[in-house]
Amino acid sequence: MSGDLLSLDGVSSGYGQSRILWDVDFALPRGKATALIGRNGVGKTTLLSTIMGLRPALTGRILFDGKDITRLSTHQRARAGIAIVPQGRHVFPFLTVEENLLSGLAARRDGKKAIPDFIFDLFPKLAQIRHRKGGLLSGGEQQQLAIGRALAGDPRLLLLDEPTEGIQPNVVAQIEAALRHVRTEMGMTILVVEQYLDFAWRLADLYSAMQGGRIVRQGDTSSETADAVAHLVHI
Ligand SMILES: Nc1ncnc2c1ncn2[C@@H]1O[C@H](COP(=O)(O)OP(=O)(O)OP(=O)(O)O)[C@@H](O)[C@H]1O
Ligand SMILES: [Mg+2]
Repeated sequence: MSGDLLSLDGVSSGYGQSRILWDVDFALPRGKATALIGRNGVGKTTLLSTIMGLRPALTGRILFDGKDITRLSTHQRARAGIAIVPQGRHVFPFLTVEENLLSGLAARRDGKKAIPDFIFDLFPKLAQIRHRKGGLLSGGEQQQLAIGRALAGDPRLLLLDEPTEGIQPNVVAQIEAALRHVRTEMGMTILVVEQYLDFAWRLADLYSAMQGGRIVRQGDTSSETADAVAHLVHI
């Protein structure tokens, strides 16, 4: 079994006639957090969408835990253990916090029907507001809920698209602690798209940098500074 939980081999993707991702070769080692960085519009969200099956891969192959998932639906990928926290959060506005979290259980492989306690330990605020409708929550509360819902599915791979966007520092710190916990204590593999490079560097073991729909640089966050990498890849 390879050390990589996910690998992409020559993947391209796009919208209609416009090609956005070009021959992306990319891998995520098991149990590590990887930060995906790059300027606005380089294709970070498109890459996450392609991994999740929200966009089709036009060429190439995606392997998850050694299995070819390139043609699987989003639902099948969720059942296989991939969860996404999309950019802009997208909680269900007319469902309560508790109902939003319950909806995340559908992806579980063990059929468990209760919200795991650890989610409320990581985000105590969610327990306090469990009967409030999603649409009434603040941005920070919605982000905690979106992450909690993804975790409720017991994923092996967690994809997050700009989890700190528009979030105040105390909530950013909680999100950081929560992601660190699921990576270190639960062995979850994480891919986080992040513009806030200090956060990315504190959390992630590895980085991958995109430019023009390609991965142009990868490395270890402990051996290069965020500033140096940002400069090299024109962020
Ligand atoms: N639904 C769509 N239809 C057509 N083009 C799209 C669509 N979504 C994104 N694009 C285009 O694809 C390119 C990559 O977009 P993407 O959202 O992947 O970038 P990003 O790196 O996530 O940017 P940001 O940092 O602003 O979130 C952009 O040029 C964008 O305009
Ligand atoms: Mg994006």
